[in-house]
Amino acid sequence: MKVSLSAAFIALSLGSTSVLAATLASRAACTTAVKLTGNAFSGRTLKAHSIYAAEVNAAVAALTDKSLATKAAKLASVGTFFWLDKISTIAKLDGLIKETSCNEILGIVIYDLPGRDCAAKASNGELAVGSLATYKTQYIDPIRKIIAANPNTALALVIEPDSLPNLVTNSNLTTCQQSADGYRQGVAYALQQLNLPNVVMYLDAGHGGWLGWDANLTPGAQELARAYTAAGKPAQLKGFSTNVAGWNAWIKIPGEFDVPPDGQFNKAQDENRYVNLFGAALASAGMPNHAIVDTGRNAVQGLRLAWGDWCNVNGAGFGVRPTSNTGNSLADAFVWVKPGGESDGTSDPSAARFDSFCGLADAFQPAPEAGTWNQAYFEMLVRNAVPSF
Ligand code: BGC
Repeated sequence: MKVSLSAAFIALSLGSTSVLAATLASRAACTTAVKLTGNAFSGRTLKAHSIYAAEVNAAVAALTDKSLATKAAKLASVGTFFWLDKISTIAKLDGLIKETSCNEILGIVIYDLPGRDCAAKASNGELAVGSLATYKTQYIDPIRKIIAANPNTALALVIEPDSLPNLVTNSNLTTCQQSADGYRQGVAYALQQLNLPNVVMYLDAGHGGWLGWDANLTPGAQELARAYTAAGKPAQLKGFSTNVAGWNAWIKIPGEFDVPPDGQFNKAQDENRYVNLFGAALASAGMPNHAIVDTGRNAVQGLRLAWGDWCNVNGAGFGVRPTSNTGNSLADAFVWVKPGGESDGTSDPSAARFDSFCGLADAFQPAPEAGTWNQAYFEMLVRNAVPSF
C-alpha cells in the first residue's frame, strides 16, 4: 500500500502519467468483462485478501519473537481462499471482489450445505437437513447476484468440500444418508447458478487417501459427474479440488502410507498420482478433469498416525505457495484453500462440536472451534514452512 501510494505521488509530482496509470491498473478490476477459458490461474495471482491479512497482522502483533514475527508477516501477502461458511459471511463478498485486481483471481469456498459435515462433528453447519430451499434462496442466489454484478473480476470457487466424497464412503452413517439428497441437489444447484463467465469452479473430491482407493475411484468420479450432469454440464466447471484442508504431499515416493493395506489397494500415494488417477476416472465418467490442489499445510510428512487423521495435525507447516506452475498439465494450480491458523475443530471434549479426531494423539491441543484462530498453531505452521519464509 505504502509503495503504491508513494509511486503515485512521484508520478503526480513528475507530471508523468505512465507510472500512475500502471500503479492504478495493477490495483483495479479489469476494464472489461472477464471471460475465463483454459487455466484461469495462468497469468493471475491468487488474491491475498484483506480478511486473512488482518488475521495474520493480529497474529504478528502478538509475537514477541522478532525473527518469527518477520516471517509471519509475510503470510499477509500469500493468496488464500475465503470461506463463505454461513449466510452472514456473504456480506463480505462484494468488498473482497472490489479489492481484487485485474491480474488476480479471488478464491472463494462454497460451504453451507444442509446437514454439512455429515461424517464428522467439528464443522456441522447452520442449515439443518431438509433446508434445501434456504440453501438455494438465501445462500446460493445472493452469491450469484453479487458475482454477476462484478463481471470484471475473476473468481475461483471450490464447491462444498467433503460433501460428495462423504456420500461415496460414509453412506453407512445415518447422518450422511439423511444429507444425501440435499447434498446432491444443492451441489447441482450451486454448479448451475454459479456458472458465470468470470468464474471457474472445482468440485471437491477429498484427497488421495479418501477417494484414491481402487474401489473408490470409479464410484467417486461417477458421483461428481452426476452432479455435473444434473447441473446441465456447466462450462465453467473445470474439474475437482483435492487436499482441501488436507495434509498429503504433492509428490512423495514411496508414499507416506505405502504399506499394506493402504499401499496395496490405493495407488494414489500422493496428490500428484491422485490427480492423475481420479482425473482419468472423471474423464471416463464424462466430467471435466482439471484439478487444483491445496498445498497450504502439507510441508511436513510423517505426522499422522493414520491417513484419515484430519484435525489440526501436530507438527504441520505451510507448504508450497500458490502457483500455476505445477508440472502436471491436469493440475491447474497449487492453491491455499484452508487459511493456515484457523482451526479444524475444537479439542474440548465437552463442546457440542467436539469430534474425537481432534482429541487424537497426533492432533495439536488445545484447539478452538473450527474456523477460529489458533495462534500457537499458526506459529508452528510458520516455523515448519517449506519453503521457509
Ligand atoms: C470450518 C469453517 C471455516 C473453515 C476455514 C472449516 O473447517 O468449519 O467454519 O471457515 O474451516 O477455516
